[in-house]
Amino acid sequence: MAKPRISSIDGKLAEEFAVPSHVEEVKEKMAAFARNHAAAGRRVVLITSGGTKVPLESRTVRFLDNFSSGRRGASSAEYFVDSGYAVIFLHRHRSLYPYTRMFSNVNMLEALKFSGGDGASNSSGDVVVDQQVLPNIAKALKRYQEMKEGKLLLPIEFSTLSEYLHLLKAAAQALSTIGSKAMFYLAAAVSDFYIPASEMPEHKIQSSNGPLQLSMNMVPKILSPLVKDWAPQAFVISFKLETDATILLEKARRALDTYRHQAVVANVLDSRRGYVVVVTPETQAELIITDEDVKNEVEIEERIVSNLTAAHKKFITQQGG
Ligand code: PMT
Repeated sequence: MAKPRISSIDGKLAEEFAVPSHVEEVKEKMAAFARNHAAAGRRVVLITSGGTKVPLESRTVRFLDNFSSGRRGASSAEYFVDSGYAVIFLHRHRSLYPYTRMFSNVNMLEALKFSGGDGASNSSGDVVVDQQVLPNIAKALKRYQEMKEGKLLLPIEFSTLSEYLHLLKAAAQALSTIGSKAMFYLAAAVSDFYIPASEMPEHKIQSSNGPLQLSMNMVPKILSPLVKDWAPQAFVISFKLETDATILLEKARRALDTYRHQAVVANVLDSRRGYVVVVTPETQAELIITDEDVKNEVEIEERIVSNLTAAHKKFITQQGG
């Protein structure tokens, strides 16, 4: 049997990014999840979601982080489940989570009351939900229970950049067994810079030493081995975020040319909830949320997922799957 190719990124990952102790266990869990759902005729999507934390000290007091809330990944997970997919949700610890995301800012104690009405005197009675404080809770609960019954969501957490990189590699290898039925939906905002373990101070950086100057290395672009080596038959979607709209589409096209994957979802920081462009080597589709859509509670992720699940179906047919 041919040995798997070892890219220089594999070497770099092993040498410079601490391997999480549970990575093999998680890999086996993801592989079993993918195998079982694929055997039941389901497609499987791996969603990455949220930002990454880059430590500045090995006994970490300080770290660099970014803006990502994880809303894109969490809401997309729900629409993928609605579309019949099984979802591996590789997400940043404490970023937004499918089904609970709408209620993340709610004080639960404001949303609950004792069924008898009078709080203090009835504090051992049943508790009921005030649906004015939690609008749509019944709908969310129904969707959540359907997802749970079908065991359609496998949540996996990361915090640091190292954890993200190793768990994504493990996920890619776990999903390679189901070929073109796997989709990668890389919505996480991953740091492009890091401090290698060999150059990181062990202890807290002392402010008494004066202003801090940092020199950071480039994080290897994980898309490259993912597409070429780890999951070469999968349907791979990357995201491209810019703050300058004038360079966005050119950057998205360049990513497709460089990595040779299937599509890029291009978005601008300030308008990301209402406008994205799905770019493929042959097509460019603008997806827009109007004021009317907002009134009807239509989210852009529903449109993104609808566009990509149709493209994935076509891709599987073309691959003879
Ligand atoms: O979480 P929200 O607040 O809802 O915001 C959603 C979002 C704006 C984060 C999301 O829509 C988005 O655009 N995510 C990707 C942002 C990003 O990091 O873009 P990038 O241009 O730096 O990276 C391009 C692609 O390469 C991404 O798919 C990323 O997952 C991937 N990448 C990045 C770095 C790296 N070392 N390896 C990678 O493979």
